Amino acid sequence: MNIRSTKGLTFEDVLLVPRRSPIQSRRDVNTATRLTDQISLNIPVISANMDTVTEARMAIAMAQNGGIGILHRFMTIEQQVSQVRRVKRAQGFIVESPYSIPLSASIDEARRIMERVDVGGLMVLEDTTGKLAGIITQRDICLAPPSLSTVKQAMTPLEKLITARPGVTIEEARQILYQHRIEKLPVMDAEGNLAGLITAQDVIKPTENPSASLDTKGHLRVGAAIGVTANEMERAAALLEAGADALVLDIAHGHADHCIQMVKTIRANFPSAQIIAGNVASRDGARELAEAGANAIKVGIGPGSICTTRIVTGFGVPQLTAIIDSVEGVRQSGCNIPIIADGGIQKAGDLVKALAAGAEAVMIGSLFAGTEEAPGSPVIRDGQKVKVVRGMASLGATMGRRAAERGHDESAEDAQDWDKVVPEGVEAVVPYRGHVSEVLTQLVGGLRSGLSYGGAHNLKELRDNAEFIEITPAGIRESGSHDVRKI
Ligand code: XMP
Repeated sequence: MNIRSTKGLTFEDVLLVPRRSPIQSRRDVNTATRLTDQISLNIPVISANMDTVTEARMAIAMAQNGGIGILHRFMTIEQQVSQVRRVKRAQGFIVESPYSIPLSASIDEARRIMERVDVGGLMVLEDTTGKLAGIITQRDICLAPPSLSTVKQAMTPLEKLITARPGVTIEEARQILYQHRIEKLPVMDAEGNLAGLITAQDVIKPTENPSASLDTKGHLRVGAAIGVTANEMERAAALLEAGADALVLDIAHGHADHCIQMVKTIRANFPSAQIIAGNVASRDGARELAEAGANAIKVGIGPGSICTTRIVTGFGVPQLTAIIDSVEGVRQSGCNIPIIADGGIQKAGDLVKALAAGAEAVMIGSLFAGTEEAPGSPVIRDGQKVKVVRGMASLGATMGRRAAERGHDESAEDAQDWDKVVPEGVEAVVPYRGHVSEVLTQLVGGLRSGLSYGGAHNLKELRDNAEFIEITPAGIRESGSHDVRKI
């Protein structure tokens, strides 16, 4: 029998020891971090891939606020792909399929299309090859002398057009638009095919959310969960094709042969895919997933508010220790990839402790389930406005998933199997909390203060300088408000 001599600790068991601080204002700190080794975020917060937490609306709000949402996978591939597309369409500086007109069309036709779809210009394409031939704008039409009748005569031809190549960044596009004092910048590939359109307006728009998480095209970033069975490769391919920035392997026990194999298979098929693998709670688990090719490791076996895995199976590691052990495992692998702490974050202080322990971001479920952007409507329970949250291994979620897999709703036939399910999660309600941006303001505000107490300008300095102190039940009691009556 092997019993560890050290204790397993979680957030409430410890505090961080304050350090001498050069920070004079909470504005002097930087909360930027890594989601994976290749994707950065402006705040270290991710919404969980749970069906009561993250669908497109939540993912949009998370990315607008500088974090990211992971779409849950308990829907068809088509539905999940359409959710990715919804997030991607919500904001972007490249119009991927701009309105176009054939070269041989008449000016009248161009005018009618512009009026109907309410745009100021059309891309002109060669009749036979479909390659970019020029651009025609409302100004060209208004100024054209009556003797001109075709688009070809009135347009700005390709040889006079300023174009950009696919992959142009928003800053490069801004510079080109400014340098040439133009409003529209067609994107053309090396073969002369139209690959999109950038307008000055679209380049200006992102300043509305200056810290939003954006991909190279200026679209909001979004991740999507997949399972680990062989047929999930079809889902992975479809999600990547739709523009998902990261795939999260959604499996309760990630330190498993089939999960390691899935990481390798995705890596082999999609070399540049960003794979977040988990969940693990041990050094070996984190090391082996890192060695298999993951771009980030998700840590947490049973710390979640709706989790009963530890009760049902007897397995788990208190979350602070799990984070510290997993960071060590990744270090041993020699891979420079981040750890994501998943579950158990209820207060800003938990977030600060998870980051100080070595995580580079946290995943949050139930705290966000009560927000406006989470799926489902609020209900009134005992006079209080609440929303439902359910563990993805709860009875309800498991039955719903099985029904969906069989292609119909939770039915009488499925109901006969209820007693065979061994749930590892619960269904519950949480207080309605308004918009997720309000919850994020509290979390990130606490983090900024925490960085100041830690004498840290950024999350790396917080990690490098952290000193934890284990506290007693009396210390825990002293840490909350006490000996006063709450009003
Ligand atoms: P919080 O505490 O933020 O945790 O609500 C969210 C995380 O909990 C995990 N999760 C589950 N774990 N049984 C479990 O043991 C479940 O039914 C379950 N559902 C979600 C998941 O990692 C999520 O991100």
